[in-house]
Amino acid sequence: MRILVTGGAGYIGSHAMRALTAAGHEAWTYDNLSYGHPKAVKEDRLVIGDLLDKDRLDGTFVQNQIEAVLHFAAFAFVGESVTNPGIYYRNNVAGSLSLFEVMRRHDVRKIVFSSTCATYGIPDQIPITEQTPQRPINPYGHTKLMIEQALRDYSRAYGWGCVALRYFNASGAAADGSIGEDHTPETHLIPLLIAAALGRRGPVKIFGTDYPTPDGTCVRDYIHVDDLASAHLKALETLTPNSFTAINLGIGKGFSVREVIRAVEQVGGRPVPVEFSDRREGDPPALIADSRLAREKLGWEPEKTRLEDIVASAWNWHRQHPDGFRTSRQ
Ligand code: UFG
Repeated sequence: MRILVTGGAGYIGSHAMRALTAAGHEAWTYDNLSYGHPKAVKEDRLVIGDLLDKDRLDGTFVQNQIEAVLHFAAFAFVGESVTNPGIYYRNNVAGSLSLFEVMRRHDVRKIVFSSTCATYGIPDQIPITEQTPQRPINPYGHTKLMIEQALRDYSRAYGWGCVALRYFNASGAAADGSIGEDHTPETHLIPLLIAAALGRRGPVKIFGTDYPTPDGTCVRDYIHVDDLASAHLKALETLTPNSFTAINLGIGKGFSVREVIRAVEQVGGRPVPVEFSDRREGDPPALIADSRLAREKLGWEPEKTRLEDIVASAWNWHRQHPDGFRTSRQ
């Protein structure tokens, strides 16, 4: 298929671009590079543009005869979404609607949308199934839920085939160490712990040790970014007209912050300096996916289910790229 990957220069999008190309698809990245990295994708496959620039989008659809869309482009800093919701509604909601308008103009009716476990807020039950009520607790989660709802309506009214993939904690890096996680600012646990272990920053603050979890720290479902990418390929293959399906993407197993620290220490063979501190506002105690639907509907299986393997791939990337993509070759 001929596929447009919005946000394809970002962390998850760039891994999906690789997977699409490896599977024989023709894929183009559409990215405004506000957070994406040009070096994360092949130069001749990168279109620099904003989702709100309909003319640019139009041209991209025509020129490349796009048949389906993987829609990753979004702002994704939870804390920033609370202090500056305007840019989240503009980019994530208005930007998506602009993309959808252009898709309609070109009669493209297939889309895989990047949603998130943040749409569940603080769930009443663990593991989280797709039927767990969605009650986001921050603007980032609200914007993602709004787009899920829009796609549900578009599938009914316009016959679109839509899958919303609700990611749990994306982590790790490509097996060959060529692309990986590079956020500015970095807020995610695993890259912060690795940077601290490598002496590139001071101790990492551990947000809360009094949660109602086995060791008092938060529990998350860490899923390897290449497993996320492979699920997109499967989702693309299963898209059927007039349907909207939401699917959790996690491995179905949770690890506490303390377990992640131990995994980084084991992989790196050195201690990680940490500092225990208060809870971070808005952090649910535990988020673990019920991942059965992904396995049943998509025929998908995560390949990396050992935390040490996920951390090892991240370690490899960060060790080789002290400044992320700035020290990376194309
Ligand atoms: N953590 C720390 N110290 C840090 C950073 C994180 O203790 O410096 C803890 C957090 O409290 C949390 C765990 O490590 O318990 C994981 O935190 P991340 O920031 O790596 O990931 P989150 O679970 O907060 O966020 C992820 C995605 C978001 C998504 C969210 C849904 O990155 O995009 O899940 O809750 F919105």
